[in-house]
Amino acid sequence: MLDKPQIQPAKLVDPFGREITYLRLSVTDRCDLRCTYCMAEKMTFLPKSDLLDASELEEVASAFIARGVRKIRITGGEPLVRRNIIDIMERVSKHLGHGLDELTLTTNGTQLQKHASDLVRVGVKRINVSLDSLNPETFSRITRGGRLAQVLDGIAAAQSHGLKIKLNVVVLKQDNLDELPAMIRWAHARDIDVTLIEAMPMGEIEADRFDQYTPVSDVKANLAKDWALSRDTYRTGGPSDYWRVAETGGRLGFITPLSKNFCGGCNRVRLTCTGKLFLCLGRDEDADLRAVLRSGGGLDAALIEAIGRKPESHDFRIDAPGQSPAVARHMSMTGG
Ligand code: 5AD
Ligand code: SF4
Repeated sequence: MLDKPQIQPAKLVDPFGREITYLRLSVTDRCDLRCTYCMAEKMTFLPKSDLLDASELEEVASAFIARGVRKIRITGGEPLVRRNIIDIMERVSKHLGHGLDELTLTTNGTQLQKHASDLVRVGVKRINVSLDSLNPETFSRITRGGRLAQVLDGIAAAQSHGLKIKLNVVVLKQDNLDELPAMIRWAHARDIDVTLIEAMPMGEIEADRFDQYTPVSDVKANLAKDWALSRDTYRTGGPSDYWRVAETGGRLGFITPLSKNFCGGCNRVRLTCTGKLFLCLGRDEDADLRAVLRSGGGLDAALIEAIGRKPESHDFRIDAPGQSPAVARHMSMTGG
């Protein structure tokens, strides 16, 4: 008797023909830092009782993987401040090699010394570390009290365990613009890739984003005056546009949500720590997967319904002082 052909479940394809293969999973909205462009000084965090627990997170991850998601990034807030973070990651990591190609993490680096070896143990190979200055005073000002040395020790620990690191640097007109070439040189000398990111208008903060924002396209033009940049063939399926710096030998990416929209190739959706699925970083469309989970099923149908509502693109703009954010939620809800 012939074997029945395996029926592959349909992929998740949005109304614009984009296949969703990448899930960003936020495990907490809390953070031990308070970056001025990310959070208000006094943030109200979600009650811990609202969070999805480890088995609910696992269930959502499995449902997405069954529908063709191949990459999962754990984010926050700061994911490594969640108490059972390694348990959560270990559960997701069971899918590695069985549908899931990559499990990775975005972190501010403060807890890496403690967690680097466990991350390697659960199959993480590369991580993104958010770091916006290598000057201790500037770092402390941007993060409202963070200690740079703690992050640098964390990066060193991660590297000593064999984790490949990429630095995410948010370009801030008043804080780090002058420092960027030195940061890139520092990172490249340590085999660390760098991605420069434009500050996005998400959530109310004290500062006016108009005063913080600089188009990354301008930064790139400036760097190109001193350095030979050649296009790198490296592609992650993400928004970053990668270049190779001849003088440092390192890789440099640019993420330009405002100065150059890249939504056409979007392959991702984001789950908050309370189970809200956001279909676009810069839009309010969402789906309450926690309600679906706790009503006892229908997760797969909920994913399909939600992806069917994915917006075509964000509408971020920072072109005048005093503008309201594009969305009320802060980046710390979805971790970028
Ligand atoms: N615009 C751009 N990047 C932001 N991040 C946090 N808030 C913002 C914002 N408003 C960055 C962090 C980190 C990543 C998760 O998102 O610095 O690199
Ligand atoms: Fe924390 Fe990252 Fe937001 Fe800074 S940018 S406050 S490190 S979540």
